Amino acid sequence: MTGSTGEAARKRLFIRTWGCQMNVYDSARMADVLAPLGYAPAETAEAADMVILNTCHIREKAADKLFSELGRLRVAKQAREAAGGGLVLAVAGCVAQAEGAEIAARAPWVDIILGPQTYHRLPEMVARASRAAGAVIETDFPVEQKFDHLPEQAASQGVTAFLTVQEGCDKFCSFCVVPYTRGAEYSRPAAAVLAEARRLVAAGAREVTLLGQNVNAWHGASPGGGSWGLGRLLREMAEIPGLLRLRYTTSHPRDMDADLIAAHRDLPSVMPYLHLPVQSGSDRVLAAMNRGHTADDFRRVVDRLREAQPGLALSSDFIVGHPGETEADFAATMALIDQVGFAMAYSFKYSARPGTPAAGAPGQVAEAVKDARLQALQALLRDQQDAFNRSRVGLTFPVLFTGPGRHPGQIMGRSPWLQPVHLLGDRSLIGRVAPARVLAAHANSLSGTLAAGEDDHPGPPRASLRAEEPAPA
Ligand code: SAH
Ligand code: SF4
Ligand code: F3S
Repeated sequence: MTGSTGEAARKRLFIRTWGCQMNVYDSARMADVLAPLGYAPAETAEAADMVILNTCHIREKAADKLFSELGRLRVAKQAREAAGGGLVLAVAGCVAQAEGAEIAARAPWVDIILGPQTYHRLPEMVARASRAAGAVIETDFPVEQKFDHLPEQAASQGVTAFLTVQEGCDKFCSFCVVPYTRGAEYSRPAAAVLAEARRLVAAGAREVTLLGQNVNAWHGASPGGGSWGLGRLLREMAEIPGLLRLRYTTSHPRDMDADLIAAHRDLPSVMPYLHLPVQSGSDRVLAAMNRGHTADDFRRVVDRLREAQPGLALSSDFIVGHPGETEADFAATMALIDQVGFAMAYSFKYSARPGTPAAGAPGQVAEAVKDARLQALQALLRDQQDAFNRSRVGLTFPVLFTGPGRHPGQIMGRSPWLQPVHLLGDRSLIGRVAPARVLAAHANSLSGTLAAGEDDHPGPPRASLRAEEPAPA
């Protein structure tokens, strides 16, 4: 061996992530936790000594993916063992939390099963797994907070970064597993969030997206005692030098308070884009979903937001075919979409999740009906998204450049409304905001050219070249 001792001890880690942005963030933190044990990133599962599958339980299809992947990895593990090596296999995330015992029974070749609140204990689990015969399972909600025990963010996330500020949910919507997989609502203290934001900026981040299952319910301890709401936190974040853009997701309509709405009016770094899931436009269905708001409550929140920030673009989540949903209920959802107008949206067929109240409710909707409703809803949302993207053509606005484009000479950036923007430009713009003029709208992106004139939003010196696009919700 010619490598240094460090290289000889090097092990490779591959993490596959499904689900929401919180899982993307968690995967990065698991990599941080394992780095001191000598694990460096691998490009593929085949090239790794340890594979973590970070799973999502939100809909049935999301959970199904796990078992097919585990089947594939079993073969890889056997081949490795036959050659005298080994492969540590871990299942993390919300399926591990909800179905830990089932995974251990169905896939006994898995070494570690860990829930989202136990990632700080990973090194100890890896050590135990090397001694244990069966799987090491850690799916409790420990009294200590994982955030207090995770190492400081090590790896750079690039120009755009995620920062989890809140976890868990106490709202118990009828259809949703999150309160069971992520546990009770918890807000990180403001000082910890601000310190992490400063570290991210030092590592090259120019845009930070604050994450939480109910991010706008955040009420973290303030440095001076007492607590702050998210509006106040954004005001403090906006003061961090070099942090050019702020976003937050996912918000609940019930927690959109006056101070947070005012932040959209007062803070230029808070981007004019908000993901605000409404799920349905029918008050009957919203009540059955236990959402705690009506369709009109949602319309009023949107009106107040647009008053504060007239350029605001909205995105949302919709579920069709919740138990009890009639044609009239569905028509009310279509009407709400028509009235509000969305720049982007995610929509899903209701998927019965074990242990949730809606799973056993009467009035389950036939699959064919759900299919038809989803198609109609997605056609309307598609039209609105196309119209929004077309409305940007001819406009000049600031773009944050995040990385090189696919084609030679191209660079990629992000519009204020989160669309990817690609154009011909110098790589020295990466990590900076510069005005661009949009010449064409595409299904999910915009293209254009750098606007004549100076960079009127000079950013700090050139940052990391790695782009990081958000995973779909
Ligand atoms: N905390 C967010 C959303 C979390 S889950 C909120 O309060 O809205 C992301 C989205 O998945 C939800 O908004 C919902 O539209 C969808 N979803 C959750 N459970 C679902 C289920 N059982 N079937 C179909 N879609 C579901
Ligand atoms: Fe799930 Fe969001 Fe409802 Fe919480 S508020 S139960 S995360 S849909
Ligand atoms: Fe999925 Fe868990 Fe996120 S269920 S959407 S990974 S909170």
